[in-house]
Amino acid sequence: EEGLHPTKYPWEHIKWNKTYDHQALRRGFQVYQEVCASCHSLSRIPYRTLVGVTHTVDEAKVMAEENEYDSDPNDEGEIEKRPGKLSDYLPAPYKNDEAARAANNGALPPDLSLIVKARHGGCDYIFSLLTGYPEEPPAGAAVPDGLNFNPYFPGTGIAMARVLYNELVEYEDGTPASTSQMAKDVVEFLNWSAEPEMDQRKKMGMKVLVISTALFALSVWVKRYKWSPIK
Ligand code: HEM
Repeated sequence: EEGLHPTKYPWEHIKWNKTYDHQALRRGFQVYQEVCASCHSLSRIPYRTLVGVTHTVDEAKVMAEENEYDSDPNDEGEIEKRPGKLSDYLPAPYKNDEAARAANNGALPPDLSLIVKARHGGCDYIFSLLTGYPEEPPAGAAVPDGLNFNPYFPGTGIAMARVLYNELVEYEDGTPASTSQMAKDVVEFLNWSAEPEMDQRKKMGMKVLVISTALFALSVWVKRYKWSPIK
């Protein structure tokens, strides 16, 4: 069963001549970290990829060091704990899928690395999902036990409850953290995680456009110049 069609929003970062807003990516990472990371992994993102995107090298190192990882086995084959490094991946909230389901009423919170690409409707869908929980399910809607009503979720009964509420996080840049602001920022961040090369691709496209336009103009001029004696 299809969910309610999400509203189309005018995402700035999706426009062909715009890049990600890195201040928004930084806020979006904060939302992921403080809100989503307790249930959702982001398994394809090592700390090093945040450098120059949302954080400085030093900030990324400090964040990595806040987690513990298994060391390589030493000569005796023992594995110890060591602090994280830039090359480590963001830690997952659960050991495995079984533990994740056990903590979520049987439902599996999907990894969010590629979710913007994996779900029909992309940014619009995830924004609508996060901001679309009504205070009460509509009269007559049958919501199974343990599920929450959300019209945008296919089937409308979703295991994830509403997670974003005004002022849930405090942004360091002073942006008011309304529900929709946090949803917008985290969606833009998740678009970056699914498509980190997007800015590069657009810049390359722009170069191709500028250079090929110049060459085309030049060839028109040469053609006219060469043919000018022949009337
Ligand atoms: C599912 C995003 C926080 C638990 C999902 C889905 C997305 C999402 C995109 C997939 C929906 C679909 O399949 O179409 C987010 C974001 C969060 C967040 C961006 C932070 C802002 C949380 C938290 C929890 C949670 C804190 C746990 C308390 C789940 C579960 C599902 C889910 C259990 C599976 C739902 C189902 O299949 O019925 N989430 N989530 N999420 N999320 Fe979250």
